[in-house]
Amino acid sequence: MKKKAGLITSFAVITTLLIACGDTEDASLPTEEADGAENNGAETVHDDSYEELASMYQPLGNMEIPEDNPMTDETIELGKTMFFDPRLSGDDSLSCASCHIPALGYGDGKPVFEGFEGVEGPRNTPTIINSGYYTSLFWDGRADSLEAQALGPIESPIEMNQDLDELVVQLAAIDGYVDMFEEAFDDEVTVENIGKALAAFQRTIVIDDTPFDHFLAGDYSALTEEELKGMELFAGDAGCISCHSGPNLSDDSFHNIGMETGDEGRYEVTGDEADKGVFRTPGLYGIAHRSPYMHNGSLETLEEVIDYYDHGGDDHPNKSALMEELNLTEEEKEALHAFLMALSGESPHVDVPALPED
Ligand code: HEC
Ligand code: HEC
Repeated sequence: MKKKAGLITSFAVITTLLIACGDTEDASLPTEEADGAENNGAETVHDDSYEELASMYQPLGNMEIPEDNPMTDETIELGKTMFFDPRLSGDDSLSCASCHIPALGYGDGKPVFEGFEGVEGPRNTPTIINSGYYTSLFWDGRADSLEAQALGPIESPIEMNQDLDELVVQLAAIDGYVDMFEEAFDDEVTVENIGKALAAFQRTIVIDDTPFDHFLAGDYSALTEEELKGMELFAGDAGCISCHSGPNLSDDSFHNIGMETGDEGRYEVTGDEADKGVFRTPGLYGIAHRSPYMHNGSLETLEEVIDYYDHGGDDHPNKSALMEELNLTEEEKEALHAFLMALSGESPHVDVPALPED
């Protein structure tokens, strides 16, 4: 495997280094052999190296809630109801949940979405899990808040194809919605309130209780030795953390990982040549619950994703210098996979609400 300067090289090495600085008299210090064993007594051995490993990551922490859109039971309930309501689309056929399907990790299981009248979209449907943590939304980051983002798919002619002013008229004719907007916002049905309620609901779709979170909180027995090895590779030799950094495992920034798909990505937002084929780094919480992966849904499984990174990605003139051939061993790939699984936790459950009648 190729080594990267400045990054830790193997779990055994940091373990050894830290042991060297610690209390060498302690007879219970781990041996190389113990490292390879199944999570035995992981909570008691080499705590220092665990701390060191944990310190390379940031806990998810609190989501930022905009001051002008506090999350109340009423806004969340209204947003949830609209999320499941196909009347938000032009021909009343598609709701947000038609593509962000709770049982499929809030994606749709397809490489690219199928939108209005069955038209195939150019991009893969991302999950909405933990989307409240992003500072830029969509694969190309063209929206900067969930409030702004929510209106995009409603209006998009290839997604829900609904005129927003008409939607306001339509919802205002449904007594149940008039009451819900009144309770949530002390106000009528407006475009702004629709966006706010959808955003408030989406901020409740969170995964924050995974073995990884427990580990970061100091429960060093939460991860198996294999998952720990993966966590160490992710931050070390595999270099994932160069981009998947920060509390939600996304740097909220934009990179080209070498996929030549004809999708110009961030360039469509900035017009800058260097942004061609550049996409926002997705967060990785709950990653096992949805597939396929990437903006074009071209990678079916997490194994394929790991293989893609292992060969340093495909070719694109704008490919990031951070994309290097990794030459991971099978064991290392499996460890990386195990770590991604440990980030997955449980997919958030949501009870499908009753929709107000016309
Ligand atoms: C026809 C399928 C479809 C429907 C319906 C749909 N979406 Fe999406 N959604 C997508 C696709 C595809 C993207 C990515 C588009 C892009 O990046 O250009 C997306 C992106 C998003 C994102 C951004 C996630 C991220 O990682 O940045 C959020 C949040 C979201 N949708 C919420 C909603 C809401 C709320 C609704 C209903 C008002 C909705 N979607 C309706 C397919 C759909
Ligand atoms: C140069 C920055 C960068 C590095 C390094 C990087 N990623 Fe990514 N990752 C991205 C970007 C950007 C995307 C979205 C790319 C696209 O769709 O074209 C992505 C997508 C993914 C996805 C799919 C997410 C989804 O929702 O479809 C997974 C899984 C992933 N990366 C895991 C990893 C792992 C594991 C590593 C280390 C082996 C890694 N990444 C290294 C930037 C990076």
